[in-house]
Amino acid sequence: MKRRKALKWSLIGGGIGLGALVLGGGGTVAYLYSQAKINTVGQVDFDNALAVPPLAESAIDGNGARVFRLEVQAGERQFKDGPATPTWGVNGAYLGPTLRASRGEEVAVAVHNGIDETTSLHWHGMHLPAAQDGGPHQAVEPDGDWTPQWTINQPAATLWYHPHPHGQTGKHVYRGVAGMFILDDDQADELNLPAEYGVDDLPMIVQDRRFHDDNTLDEDASFISSIGILGDEILVNGTMGPYREVTTRLVRLRLLNASNARVFNFGFSDDRGFDMIASDGGLLAAPFRTDRIQLSPGERAEIVVAFAPGETVDLRSYPNSPGLGADAPQLRFNGGEDSLDVCRFTAAAELTDETEVPDTLGEAPDLDLDDVAAERSFELLGFEINGESMDMNRIDFGVRVDTTEVWEVVNVDGDTHNFHVHDVQFQVLDIDGQAPPEYLSGWKDTVQLATSKRYRLAMRFSEYTDPNVPYMYHCHILFHEDSGLMGQFVVLGEDEAIGRVPESTGAHDHP
Ligand code: C2O
Ligand code: CU
Repeated sequence: MKRRKALKWSLIGGGIGLGALVLGGGGTVAYLYSQAKINTVGQVDFDNALAVPPLAESAIDGNGARVFRLEVQAGERQFKDGPATPTWGVNGAYLGPTLRASRGEEVAVAVHNGIDETTSLHWHGMHLPAAQDGGPHQAVEPDGDWTPQWTINQPAATLWYHPHPHGQTGKHVYRGVAGMFILDDDQADELNLPAEYGVDDLPMIVQDRRFHDDNTLDEDASFISSIGILGDEILVNGTMGPYREVTTRLVRLRLLNASNARVFNFGFSDDRGFDMIASDGGLLAAPFRTDRIQLSPGERAEIVVAFAPGETVDLRSYPNSPGLGADAPQLRFNGGEDSLDVCRFTAAAELTDETEVPDTLGEAPDLDLDDVAAERSFELLGFEINGESMDMNRIDFGVRVDTTEVWEVVNVDGDTHNFHVHDVQFQVLDIDGQAPPEYLSGWKDTVQLATSKRYRLAMRFSEYTDPNVPYMYHCHILFHEDSGLMGQFVVLGEDEAIGRVPESTGAHDHP
């Protein structure tokens, strides 16, 4: 019974395009199918210098906490010739500054909502108390303030922040509210990796956008996409057609897929190899040599690329790696066969060469599986997980603090899906019983799900308990998330039972 209902949703979500196309007749199908594949390779004028988001200023308060101030605001940005584009951003018109803090530090963020819609700011990838997480229960009203505070207690990593208002996340991110949150620790600092922010260590916030003729953002999803908005133009750090001159032989790129729906399969125009050094949760145990890295929305990868003096090479996105996208023919309508120019790099005539990629980087995930407290399974189908759609007032389950669990996650319907869990970084144990590929060998908080394969994820819950305020788990295709493909769990103390979701947590009106 449940299954039937889910299948119907799947038709509305996943299959609507194809259904409509079939009704439209074979000629229409063929035409739209042929038009759906985008190829911008060689068509982008890389004539704008890549913007680098500024590092957010901070001050140490009387209690020793590092305090950042972030204001979500409306503005406009000149992305292209013609009129400026109305946008949203943080401390500026589009995107926000990069927050940076070290392991062990107490941080606080004074968030002010300067837009006329309720929003929130979620610290994606962060281990922190649920009430500080910035999810849908920490809504900030227009003109409202919210000041979460927590201690950084996890390895160096590239995290990010973005709004998470229930049902509206896609719109808020699309308009430009997002930024990076870089964590440091002593162990990573000791490595001689490229680490000079904005010089040889570059944030790369990659997003696709679509514009109307008057340069306003086109926020409407194509009816043939089952994943919502797909853009045909690429922004990196809010720069369209970006180029970047590099002055060092080795350059570290912190790649973040901050798109609503598009999956990127990054590589270089000459297919050169590069070293992947970190995944969502921090450094890999050892660098992984590859020439492609596929990231679904929300995922990050740090890579180190070597340049030769005077050369020019382009970062591109290639068609999805085989089997890791929607099933055909939906794959094409979801952008999985697109080829996109992303950013041009030109190397100076002379390059300094003072950094290296060491053979060993961080520690491999090493959760003790002798002692798994619970195993759970999650089936993603249409807009539902295990036949249920997100309900703000329903806590789906509770986990015990200081225990390890194994979650088995399956993409049942063959649409483009990934799976993200708040509060923790997880270890991909196996996929259909096989050891994960190297790019999934490190800590992850978001993983793309190939159709029908069983992803077993191990995670440990520690420190923070709250029987009433839930953390989220969801698909990070924002249209799916906003349509209900999300659930909620609480982390419980030893004798605690699941409580009740408070009306609203953390948010209050401006005094
Ligand atoms: Cu990046 Cu629940 O979010
Ligand atoms: Cu999904």
